[in-house]
Amino acid sequence: MSEEKRLKIAIQKSGRLADMSLQLLEKCGIFLTKSRDQLLCRAQNFPLDILLVRDDDIPAFLATDVCQLGILGQNVLLEKQAISNGIFSSLEQLLPIGQGKCRLSIAVPHDFIYESIASLNGKVIATSYKGLLGQYLATHKIKADIVTMEGAVEVAPRTHLADVICDLVSTGSTLISNGLVEKDVILESQAVLVMNQISDPEIAAIADKITSRIKAVLRAENSRYIMLNSPTKSLEAIKAVLPGSKSPTVMPLQGCDDMVAVHAVCEEGVFWDTMEDLKDCGANSILVVPIEKMLD
Ligand code: PRP
Ligand code: ZN
Repeated sequence: MSEEKRLKIAIQKSGRLADMSLQLLEKCGIFLTKSRDQLLCRAQNFPLDILLVRDDDIPAFLATDVCQLGILGQNVLLEKQAISNGIFSSLEQLLPIGQGKCRLSIAVPHDFIYESIASLNGKVIATSYKGLLGQYLATHKIKADIVTMEGAVEVAPRTHLADVICDLVSTGSTLISNGLVEKDVILESQAVLVMNQISDPEIAAIADKITSRIKAVLRAENSRYIMLNSPTKSLEAIKAVLPGSKSPTVMPLQGCDDMVAVHAVCEEGVFWDTMEDLKDCGANSILVVPIEKMLD
């Protein structure tokens, strides 16, 4: 009997994408034998193994076909692609996950006079992203020295290792606590689902199934179900206010000739402003509820 084919997905073991990645797989209905300390987790109800590794190693696991899918920051993928000559070029970003948002930025000490990117000419820049920084400097024809550091980049100016830094910024609190000011954004990044070329059709089918479940989960998370009562005459105005909804369901309300119930899936954020606009159009009893699953 031939062994069941299984796909391997690499996710971050610990760090900013770790919990989110595991939760995303769970929301896709994939149940894991929980053993966070292990390198490999086996899904019980799906032909999938999960490799828990350092995010920086995920591109190499993908490129060598140890894994076929990975969840990692675009910053990590693009940096690996920038510093290698083609090894990672077959890796494809399948879809943005909308989490782990951060940016790769140039930041300078308070007393550094930064007028434009040209202020970096002749300076020393500390970074863990020499590939992306190098490309950015080359594009802007800046000649600067790059000092590569694996971590604690933000201390480089204070310790006179560098004049300025190029590092990831998320909330900005690391910069603030190190007396640095963000000046230029080199890259906007977020978590992405990445795939390597898959030649085995059975493995490719598993990858498709996971990808479409992830898409469905992300769509459901971004969508809301709205229910409201509308005066019949205001229906068109109300439909126009409903954000990103296709064709709402309109139903009669018993004992109310001039009112209808409207139900709609809104695929965009439903904010207080939207609800207030709906109310201004004559809607009442407005309910907004989350959607757990959604498949067309
Ligand atoms: C990044 C970066 C900063 C910090 C910025 O490190 O190197 O230290 O996050 O985040 P903040 O703007 O919210 O303060 P990260 O935690 O990703 O660790 P790593 O670079 O070692 O992967
Ligand atoms: Zn990292």
